[in-house]
Amino acid sequence: MPLFSKKSKPPTINSARLPKHIAIIMDGNGRWAKARGLPRTAGHAAGAETFRRIATYCKDIGVDYLTVYAFSTENWKRPEDEVQAIMGLLEKYLAEAIEKMERDGVRLKILGDTSPLSPKLLQMIRQTEAISARTQGMQANICVNYGGRDEIVHAARAYMRQGGKPEELTEAALAERLYSAGIPDPDLIIRPGGEYRTSNFLLWQSAYSELYFTDTLWPDFKERELDRAILAYQSRDRRFGGLK
Ligand code: FPP
Repeated sequence: MPLFSKKSKPPTINSARLPKHIAIIMDGNGRWAKARGLPRTAGHAAGAETFRRIATYCKDIGVDYLTVYAFSTENWKRPEDEVQAIMGLLEKYLAEAIEKMERDGVRLKILGDTSPLSPKLLQMIRQTEAISARTQGMQANICVNYGGRDEIVHAARAYMRQGGKPEELTEAALAERLYSAGIPDPDLIIRPGGEYRTSNFLLWQSAYSELYFTDTLWPDFKERELDRAILAYQSRDRRFGGLK
């Protein structure tokens, strides 16, 4: 006897209770490539394709913010060709975005310390942010040279540089100086790739995020898996430290 008879459908997501902000750690690209006898960089290229598909799906179902972890402050330790391949994929994506984002109704923001990025990438980031300022629609945030600890240190330094007094520092004052200023905290953080950690991703912002882990490698992550993550999210009881 099958679990679902042919006529019964798997449960569908409740569009009235969607997570407003979904964040994803795009893990498993290297293993996906290795399993196919391909270089790791092919895994990142496949991962960038998955990002395009999942971002489109998020926009179509009505998610307001999607944040992905593309390159961490620790990823510089990887071989030079891999670092360059990831930067190249980012350039390719930004070039496409500059052409299409206004028509598609997608805004883009890069979160992280952009200072060591190439002048070409920096110029493209400025262009996409200028287009975003006049565009309505889902906001995709791509974390590049991003680290949660680095972000908090950066915000604390900004506060002090602006003459802030230690005794007057509040959570709001710090949050306003994070790379994510103005973006609501993620409701749901998804990590594919079978690891059960958050790896310095959105440390401050994830205080009350719901977490969803799956063994699926990121390049294999499909829309149905996002539905499963959203269904899991919708079954959770969020109390934010209070009582029901
Ligand atoms: C982690 O998987 C993935 C990364 C460090 C890079 C992710 C970058 C992309 C998908 C390309 C970015 C481009 C756009 C357009 C957003 P891993 O390599 O650590 O996987 P492994 O654990 O299997 O080795």
